Amino acid sequence: MRRPVPRALFAGVVACTVVGASYAAEIDSPPPPVVWQLESTAVPPALTRPALPRRPPADPDDAARAALGEALFRAPELLGTLARRSGLSCQACHIEGTNNPQFFIRGLSARPGGLDVTGRLFNRRADDGIVNHRDIPSLAGAAATAPYGRAGKFPTLADFTRHAIVDEFDGEEPSPLALEALVLFQRQLDFPVNRNLDGAGRLVAGASAAAKRGEALFARPFPGRPQLSCAACHPPAQAFTDRRRHDVGTGGVFDTPSLLGAAATAPYFHDGRAANVAATVAHFDRHYGLGLGEAERADLLAYLGAVGGGDARTEPVTLAGELARLDRFAEGLEVAFRARDAAVAAAVVAVSRRELGTLYERFPEPTHETARARLITLSRLLQELATALETEAWNPAAERLAAYSAEAAMLGPFLDQDRSSARFAPAR
Ligand code: HEC
Ligand code: HEC
Repeated sequence: MRRPVPRALFAGVVACTVVGASYAAEIDSPPPPVVWQLESTAVPPALTRPALPRRPPADPDDAARAALGEALFRAPELLGTLARRSGLSCQACHIEGTNNPQFFIRGLSARPGGLDVTGRLFNRRADDGIVNHRDIPSLAGAAATAPYGRAGKFPTLADFTRHAIVDEFDGEEPSPLALEALVLFQRQLDFPVNRNLDGAGRLVAGASAAAKRGEALFARPFPGRPQLSCAACHPPAQAFTDRRRHDVGTGGVFDTPSLLGAAATAPYFHDGRAANVAATVAHFDRHYGLGLGEAERADLLAYLGAVGGGDARTEPVTLAGELARLDRFAEGLEVAFRARDAAVAAAVVAVSRRELGTLYERFPEPTHETARARLITLSRLLQELATALETEAWNPAAERLAAYSAEAAMLGPFLDQDRSSARFAPAR
């Protein structure tokens, strides 16, 4: 299907801020964080957030650069004009590295959870003139799921990340430091912990009888195609992906996705055409003439549920967690300073200021006035730092950074006194 020339698509971009007017009014702040979703509603600060387990980098020296990548993952500043203006960052679509089932842009999304990334909205040069919605993948286990992109055309995470920034969202060519940092961050994102499986991807002894029968069906050769089985393309010992591209009758050649963590990533297939796992099984049954009986389908679903499940992918939002992230961003900022990468440093400053704004929103009571003042002081220091970076005045910038770090170090115990009635998840 050819797409008609989109008109006034920007009007269809639904964004809503989570930062109230007060922080922005007190300080000349960068654009507030944006929540991308179907309905524009006032969202109170969330008490939980999606979370994936993180694997520390193999080389401890990489930790600070991974922290830099974590900050840049939230930086619309890396992307082109429209993305920047509308506060779109990697994080908007891959929330904390997962997917975003609510993501929707009218005219560009065929259904919630994805969009046509080769439309002309963000980058005219990227427009392929075809309506091809792509479901946003979770980046869980990204280190182990090459190649990248639904069509598997990008051999490395660095290739895809550059493609996302430059081709899809019209950003400037990222510096080698920015790219490396983003890759290190993404490589940390692990699959959800899954106690149903052992290290080789086999069901553990306690699994249900139905799931066990499903496991056998998963490995059973297809009728008349002895080489082919679910497990041939989704090998359990290899995170359930053969890391190859196949045409499985979904309208083209696509990268085999891992099935780990899939319970939380509906809808399925490259364009989200399958609303649930049962629809994917029905598809394979039809496409390969498997002739599955009702009981066999149920067993296969029990198995896929065990494989795709795992520990809940959310964590409570705590003051300690928020402060630890601000610390990591400051660590990342120092990396950008050492590399004298002003654009990257400025992006991290903008991200940190938005984080301070979100933190500010968590201290809404009159009794929190001093806490808010402290956060405003920090934001002002970062604003001065940003101004120094504009002219690459590195010495004054370094002074501001030192002042910020000293202030930030005192923030924890200070805010902690004020934590009662602040908007955080109850202490566990
Ligand atoms: C507007 C939503 C959106 C934004 C913003 C976005 N992505 Fe994605 N991402 C997607 C979609 C949709 C796909 C599937 C695209 C495809 O197949 O070409 C994808 C695919 C990916 C993949 C491939 C995953 C795999 O297993 O194949 C990676 C890696 C990735 N994105 C990283 C990033 C990074 C890094 C950024 C920020 C620089 C980013 N994305 C920004 C929507 C987005
Ligand atoms: C020839 C290789 C191949 C075989 C055989 C195969 N798959 Fe897949 N599977 C794929 C590919 C490729 C995709 C992605 C298709 C797309 O994106 O349109 C996929 C997608 C899926 C998905 C959706 C995952 C997601 O996140 O979107 C599920 C679930 C799945 N397969 C389960 C199975 C089951 C169960 C069987 C056996 C009945 C099976 N597969 C057989 C290659 C295969």
